[in-house]
Amino acid sequence: MDKFLIEGGKTLSGEVRISGAKNAALPIIAAGLLVKGPLTIDNMPALHDVNTMLKLIESMGVSVDRSGDRQVTIDTSSINSYKAPYELVKTMRASILVLGPLLAHFGEAEVSLPGGCAIGSRPVDLHIRGLEAMGATIVVEEGYIRATMDGRLKGATIFFDTVTVTGTENILMAAALAEGQTIIENAAKEPEVTDLAHCLISMGADISGAGTDTIIVNGVESLHPAQHSVVPDRIETGTFLVAAAMSGGKIKTTATRPDIQEAVLQKLIEAGATIESGEDWISIDMKGKRPKAVNITTAPYPAFPTDMQAQFAAMNCLAEGVSHIKETIFENRFMHMQEMIRMGGKILIDGNTATIEGSTQLRGAPVMATDLRASASLVMLALVVEGETLIDRIYHIDRGYENIEEKFQGLGGKITRVKATK
Ligand code: UD1
Repeated sequence: MDKFLIEGGKTLSGEVRISGAKNAALPIIAAGLLVKGPLTIDNMPALHDVNTMLKLIESMGVSVDRSGDRQVTIDTSSINSYKAPYELVKTMRASILVLGPLLAHFGEAEVSLPGGCAIGSRPVDLHIRGLEAMGATIVVEEGYIRATMDGRLKGATIFFDTVTVTGTENILMAAALAEGQTIIENAAKEPEVTDLAHCLISMGADISGAGTDTIIVNGVESLHPAQHSVVPDRIETGTFLVAAAMSGGKIKTTATRPDIQEAVLQKLIEAGATIESGEDWISIDMKGKRPKAVNITTAPYPAFPTDMQAQFAAMNCLAEGVSHIKETIFENRFMHMQEMIRMGGKILIDGNTATIEGSTQLRGAPVMATDLRASASLVMLALVVEGETLIDRIYHIDRGYENIEEKFQGLGGKITRVKATK
């Protein structure tokens, strides 16, 4: 397994280009299953999770053309299987996103149950119940969700009692081809859901209300070929901005979107950063200062994202003052904190709340990446604190960050990939 070797004590400065959002690219690839003919997707990030999703649809006979620069074209004309096997789903839970589109377009789908994951139990009951409300017959047997529908799915009113991002996306895609009107209540408002809706609209879907908690979809009989550019990754943007803040540095993120970043930018300002932005860039300047500790409570968009919790925990470890971090989305998302403690972080965990006392005494140490965002937070901490850090299991980070070491090197970070020997 590859590792990162990081020499800390650096102040970050310079410019970094942000990639397309992983969490928008994945549902948009799945949306390609709804089209008769090609869907061309631009600003596609080069990530392991994207490769897994493309491999998954290729295994169904879908043609995938990756010859363009940051561009992928998928075409369902040659599809011959409607199955998402365990071997692929177990490596990426977001594979569940093919369930709605396969069922809506082809009347059948067989998707492995995702099972447990490092950050909590993460069930998919809401996806299943939503599709059942639209008339699908679903059985869960032998570890698989087997869904069938005779004819088109039927529009329905679906109320999610928990806000679910991929659940909203699955129902949104299924509803696009259903007969009649679907109303999704308590829908996820994440910008990646809105981006998916825009892609579906460019394919001929009739959708209103995306980005609010009520989405209305008037189903159409078929969707046509289209081209769509993936929204910039707000989590990658936030990760670089927080890393700069931790180092007392000054950087500019480009090809990004400040308007979908409010909660994170406000917290950075509270931490003492000077933030400036234009239509597609955000800059941060800490003017050499140590950040001030900030309290965080994660919640669905537009509130503070759970996918930025670990990065702010890293910042708070170094910051001036005591902070409280409350995780309300996932039940087991503090594993990075055990590793931060190994680096000298002063953290007390009580249930879903962590209390962090900022310290200037942290040092590099051998640590282990436990999930995607947790890995990023350890890289950030390692870049800034004195000493050397070896981070094991960095395959997690490759799932969702494009060329993270090159991007940090471009900002002055001393990070190298140590290749596994076999
Ligand atoms: C998505 C994101 C992930 C992010 C998360 C929360 C993608 C590919 N992944 O994950 O990066 O951290 O949103 O913003 O977009 N739940 C149920 N039953 C369900 C579905 C969800 O109880 O059927 C619960 C989950 O256990 C969790 C909460 O709802 O506690 C939110 O999860 P959800 O929004 O569904 O997360 P994902 O879509 O898996």
